[in-house]
Amino acid sequence: KGDPRLQAISNAIRGVCSSGEKTGIMFQDITTLLLDHKAFKNTVDIFVDRYKDMNISVVAGVEARGFMFGPTIALAIGAKFVPLRKPKKLPGEVIAEAYELEYGSDCLEMHVSAVEAGERAIVIDDLVATGGTLSAAISLLERVGAEVVECACVIGLREVKGQRRLNGKPLYILVEPR
Ligand code: PRP
Repeated sequence: KGDPRLQAISNAIRGVCSSGEKTGIMFQDITTLLLDHKAFKNTVDIFVDRYKDMNISVVAGVEARGFMFGPTIALAIGAKFVPLRKPKKLPGEVIAEAYELEYGSDCLEMHVSAVEAGERAIVIDDLVATGGTLSAAISLLERVGAEVVECACVIGLREVKGQRRLNGKPLYILVEPR
């Protein structure tokens, strides 16, 4: 909103028509954003500027595409990166949180020892559609006593358009494709 970088970021994301995928809506391909150095850097910079002085010690990224943005943000703001992974990927003791998808369900896991009670966390993913994935991520962090300060996504689809909160937590979105 008013930031000229946002239009360029939006332009760098490719909308791919796919009838079968998800809700039949346009699939948003962020790999083209990753190819555009300026737009990719601006994306990371916007998140870093927002979170650098908020006393955040945990950046939790959602597999798989949250891994493409989260670690860079974590390094820049001086936080640790915590991967939230699909089942049976993490070798240590985990807690798990199932969530509903349009067809069936999925699950995210987090190492219990990765985050301490009282830590301030943000959750990063590429895209929010129904919000089910981010809700599971919030639950994992809250179960170990962390405070989820905000969820941040590059793209918000129309299910969450205009929505500023998710499960009571602030939701920060850069671009909303029509
Ligand atoms: C996509 C996207 C988010 C999630 C958003 O991941 O990267 O993680 O869906 O959907 P929601 O808001 O309706 O929960 P996907 O499930 O395709 O997994 P992947 O990134 O591992 O391919």
